[in-house]
Amino acid sequence: MAPIIRICDAKDYVGQVVTVRGWLQRLTGKGKLNFLRVRDGSGIFQAVAFRPTLGDEKFALVNRLTTESSIILTGAIRADPRAPGVPGGYEMDLHDIEVVQLAEEYPIAPKEHGIEFLLDRRHLWLRSNHQWAIMRVRAAVIRAIRDWLDDHGFLLVDTPILTPAAGEGTTTLFKVDYHGVPAYLAQTGQLYNEANIFAFGKVYCFGPTFRAEKSKTRRHLQEFWMVEPEIAFCTLEELLEIEEQFVSAIVQTVLERCRHELALLERDTTLLQQVVPPFPRLTYDRAVELINAAAAQGVTVPPHDEPVPPITWGDDFGAPHETFLAGQFDKPVFVTHYPTAAKAFYMEPEPERPEVCRSADLLAPEGYGEIIGGSERISDPDKLREAIRRHNLPEAVYEWYIDLRRYGSVPHSGFGLGIERTVAWITGISHLREAIAYPRVLGRLWP
Ligand code: 4AD
Ligand code: MG
Repeated sequence: MAPIIRICDAKDYVGQVVTVRGWLQRLTGKGKLNFLRVRDGSGIFQAVAFRPTLGDEKFALVNRLTTESSIILTGAIRADPRAPGVPGGYEMDLHDIEVVQLAEEYPIAPKEHGIEFLLDRRHLWLRSNHQWAIMRVRAAVIRAIRDWLDDHGFLLVDTPILTPAAGEGTTTLFKVDYHGVPAYLAQTGQLYNEANIFAFGKVYCFGPTFRAEKSKTRRHLQEFWMVEPEIAFCTLEELLEIEEQFVSAIVQTVLERCRHELALLERDTTLLQQVVPPFPRLTYDRAVELINAAAAQGVTVPPHDEPVPPITWGDDFGAPHETFLAGQFDKPVFVTHYPTAAKAFYMEPEPERPEVCRSADLLAPEGYGEIIGGSERISDPDKLREAIRRHNLPEAVYEWYIDLRRYGSVPHSGFGLGIERTVAWITGISHLREAIAYPRVLGRLWP
């Protein structure tokens, strides 16, 4: 019996007869010759059906195959640098074929479909080449993240999804009923990370987070994945160094491991290759000056040549502001020292200038916007209590969090990297909905 192999391993079986199990993407050819483009989850290749080799009966069977039919192919692997596919360069001379199921007429055709049509059929759309490549890059991003953190002394500590209090703004809370008591789906694991550093020094949590975002944008999901490292005895300046090492390692590792996927996506990786430390740093003050100078000159930003609107000191950036700022640099750029009032309650104000805080966002190039939000945290219990009051948050549910500042408080910092934004940036896709298998965007809970 021929060994069962995966398409990605075809290079190791040149000249041998093997079996591949997969699905038919497309059938072309005529007369005595048919070409079957086949995918098996690990790769894509072409099997060549030649009537004299296959026999009349099996050849007729091939001719009846429909798109997405499940098939078991046996044949000889041949190396040919021109052979299409992923990784490409290998094809199969078909000796035998077994049809597991002749698929019904497949709703997704090679032609262009509208986005709602495709999202309604996300469970099928995932099979298409682009989606396949994006999901594989996502898995590589996640693996690179875990490897880097695990190798740099960070302990993975999982944080709860059902929480009693807001971690970020209260306007995006998803409320659920916890046996008669209100609870909220986690917007962040950060507050628990802050408890965990006092036990473990450097920690991270990694999981789904939830934000009831009220507007539909290409950068916002209702459910997204975030990795959040948190570090004891760490200032904002030290945090930025960790972030640039971390992001560079992710990008370079994925470029190396996902060459085929990025080629399939036709991603121009020129700028990604330049993602190495150090990253430029810009204060919020300076960013506001740059934005207002650009607005006065009528500068526009891609993708729709939107003019950069002027900004008032104190306001948060909009998407065109971020795109403009990031566009001034080839690498991701840190914007630091945002107005304290515009940011979350836990951020440490700058001692000499409390109207700004020791925060930093990292903006990705090419219009992908904020991929990281982070800061130094308030380490004094009284200042923290005051900040909680100022934000009109219910003090009682934060008592445990204030406690952390009572028993061996230290300067500490952390950040959160959004997985979908990072995947969208690396793959070069324009919308976050393709960076996760089953996107939850405003108004969609299906499939
Ligand atoms: O800036 P954010 O809100 O920061 C926090 O949640 C902190 N607690 C993190 C920390 O310091 N531990 O979110 C962090 C990142 C953003 O930079 C962005 O990449 C992503 O999470 N993000 C979203 N991604 C998709 N859809 C949304 N609605 C997102 N909101 C934030
Ligand atoms: Mg943020």
